[in-house]
Amino acid sequence: MDKLIVHGGTALRGSINISGSKNASLPILAATLLTGEPCIIRRVPDVSDTNYMIQILSALGADVERSSGTVRITCEEVSDRAPYELVRRMRASICVMGPLLARKRRAVVSLPGGCVIGDRPVDLHLRGLEALGAKVEFEGGNLILTAPDGLRGAEIDLRGTHGPTVLGTDNVMMAATLADGQTVIESAAAEPEVLDLANFLNAMGAKIQGAGTRRIVIEGVPELHGTEHTVIPDRIEAGTFMVAAALAGDGVTLRRVCRDHLKSITAALEQSGHCVEFNAAGDVCTLLRNGQTRGVDLVTAPYPGYPTDMQAQMTALLATTPGISVIKDTIFPQRFMHCAELKRMGADIKVDHGTVVVRGVSQLSAAPVMASDLRASAALVLAALTAKGATEISRLYHIDRGYEHIDEKLLMLGAHVERVKDR
Ligand code: EPU
Repeated sequence: MDKLIVHGGTALRGSINISGSKNASLPILAATLLTGEPCIIRRVPDVSDTNYMIQILSALGADVERSSGTVRITCEEVSDRAPYELVRRMRASICVMGPLLARKRRAVVSLPGGCVIGDRPVDLHLRGLEALGAKVEFEGGNLILTAPDGLRGAEIDLRGTHGPTVLGTDNVMMAATLADGQTVIESAAAEPEVLDLANFLNAMGAKIQGAGTRRIVIEGVPELHGTEHTVIPDRIEAGTFMVAAALAGDGVTLRRVCRDHLKSITAALEQSGHCVEFNAAGDVCTLLRNGQTRGVDLVTAPYPGYPTDMQAQMTALLATTPGISVIKDTIFPQRFMHCAELKRMGADIKVDHGTVVVRGVSQLSAAPVMASDLRASAALVLAALTAKGATEISRLYHIDRGYEHIDEKLLMLGAHVERVKDR
């Protein structure tokens, strides 16, 4: 098990490329199950979550070749059963359910295990697939979905108590591409990753309109074909490095970003007094040093609101920003595991029922800390960049799930970080 040692206090300078989006890549990889023809997907980040998804596809019978960021997948003959040993490692493996059901008319997928960021049910996925005509059974930890006569289009409202569901929308949209007739998804997730998946599916021959809005209309087609696609930039990786630059930067430039996807993150940074500039094309972003920073109030919300996946990183920034900040996570109200570790580094944070109150201190100090989930680990790395001393972050595998070569990118910006094997 690796750990990261971050020596705080070095100014970050220079430029890095942002990788392709993990959360767009995962459903797009799963969507290749919808055709027997080859698909070529570019800018798939080399992170353990995409590796798990590729392992699941291989276990289902796909032929996969991977060379740097390009993945070529052919799902000529596939099984309808996704094995527990692989599914349990990653919650996002649930998104093979829709494509398998549509292609094979049967899908057996283990229920993904618990998750440290809170209870993560799949009731909305099932509600949507049932509306398309699937019969859902549960046996031995497995979900068994069957539609022997094929799926048929339906009107489905996917709104849950915490708002829309991203992977639920993906699952229903993928299944509906091969259903008989028209499907309308109301209260759909409008995240850019859902739109990227829809663009991929349309390039495969699907007929999807309205993706990226709350209402998606899908006309079912008899079959899909192979295609090529380049994954959108990872807005959460970009946001994480924007926060790194806000904390410790002295002229940091991020390339291959998408300004439109970063509006709420940019607004939050600007509100707290940071200066964010984009080039005219909106694909290069520079953070400039700014002396006057202040606390902010943030509430996470579905896109285009402030993302829950950037809540922990912003908490790390606000821990040393003068004034009081209040952050509420409405999507995952239990996603505050990083706060206890930030407090070990001297942060003044109170967590109460899905809300944190952060009183900015002048500096954090290094401590051995433990990563608990992907974004929480990113927050600890960020906090360590300006902390006094060397912070040891253990359980680094959490960060490797979703950040491509984060230590190398930080080194390129001049940070003093070391990846070492935990004894
Ligand atoms: N929910 C339900 N029932 C469902 C599904 C979701 O009640 O059937 C609830 C969840 O408990 C949560 C809310 O709906 O309160 C939203 O969850 P959503 O389904 O949108 O989450 P997800 O699709 O499983 C994706 C990302 C997460 C990100 C969330 C929210 C991927 C692979 N994962 O998860 O990313 O936090 O959307 O934006 O796209 C991460 O990258 O670190 C990460 C956790």
